Amino acid sequence: MTSSPNPSVNAPANAHESYARYPSLAGRVVLITGGATGIGASFVEHFAAQGARVAFLDVDASAGQALADALGGSRHKPLFLHCDLTDIAALRAAIASAKAALGPIEVLVNNAANDRRHTLAEVTPESFDAGVAVNVRHQLFAVQAVVEDMKTARAGSIINLGSVSWMLKQADFPVYTMSKSAVQGLTRGLAKDLGHHGIRVNSLVPGWVMTEKQRRLWLTDEGREAIKRGQCIDAELMPEDLARMALFLAADDSRMITSQEIVVDGGWT
Ligand SMILES: NC(=O)c1ccc[n+]([C@@H]2O[C@H](COP(=O)([O-])OP(=O)(O)OC[C@H]3O[C@@H](n4cnc5c(N)ncnc54)[C@H](O)[C@@H]3O)[C@@H](O)[C@H]2O)c1
Repeated sequence: MTSSPNPSVNAPANAHESYARYPSLAGRVVLITGGATGIGASFVEHFAAQGARVAFLDVDASAGQALADALGGSRHKPLFLHCDLTDIAALRAAIASAKAALGPIEVLVNNAANDRRHTLAEVTPESFDAGVAVNVRHQLFAVQAVVEDMKTARAGSIINLGSVSWMLKQADFPVYTMSKSAVQGLTRGLAKDLGHHGIRVNSLVPGWVMTEKQRRLWLTDEGREAIKRGQCIDAELMPEDLARMALFLAADDSRMITSQEIVVDGGWT
């Protein structure tokens, strides 16, 4: 990567010591969905590095367990729970296990999704439902499963992962873009009610993040050109750029921020 006038742009991954520490996150119980790989894995790593007690759910059992083991030296080793969160009964059971192990959930990061490509013509009623189930339905049911604890505590932060894809009119996955726009509706639809209980709800909206999966499946020369044209900042957007914003949204430092869409996209939208 070329040098940049902005020292933060090309900072090495995992350089936790160069970035903010949040005392309010130490010991806090954080539940992350889809935490085994990609941006979610960076969330797990960054919250663990802040001394939070992390539970994370994922359908990818081998990557999930490997990540938990790799972070075994953290103050609190993250707890991995295998779960297909398109199965709401399984999601509820996994969240109940997380609470039994770690205590009431104080931060929920609704991260899991699947940006599988599809054309309008090939969508069936079944694939439509499956797309909604993996991209947005579980977010509401995860909130439902943690919210009573947060109400009792009169505190909590819920972070729902959105996407700039629908804002940019990106083609080739209409059920995904539809679901991701609904995430922001869900956020705003809950924020007022829950705000009265001291619970904050925000959407964290990534641009095109260079995860291993994105590079392997979707990034082409044309895509690289689109990033160059679209972003204001000429650098790759990385999972840790999202993780650092999630830390802020979970910490007490953001205590009056709710019902917002926080876009981290290098200035594309
Ligand atoms: N990567 C990007 O460029 C980008 C851009 C915009 C928005 N986002 C959003 O950010 C979030 C994370 O993105 P990512 O690129 O890391 O996603 P990803 O697809 O790489 O990873 C998502 C994680 O969710 C898990 N998962 C998928 N289906 C599951 C299921 N049914 N049950 C349990 N776990 C399941 C996967 O195993 C994986 O570990 C998503 O909400 C995504 O929509 C990502």
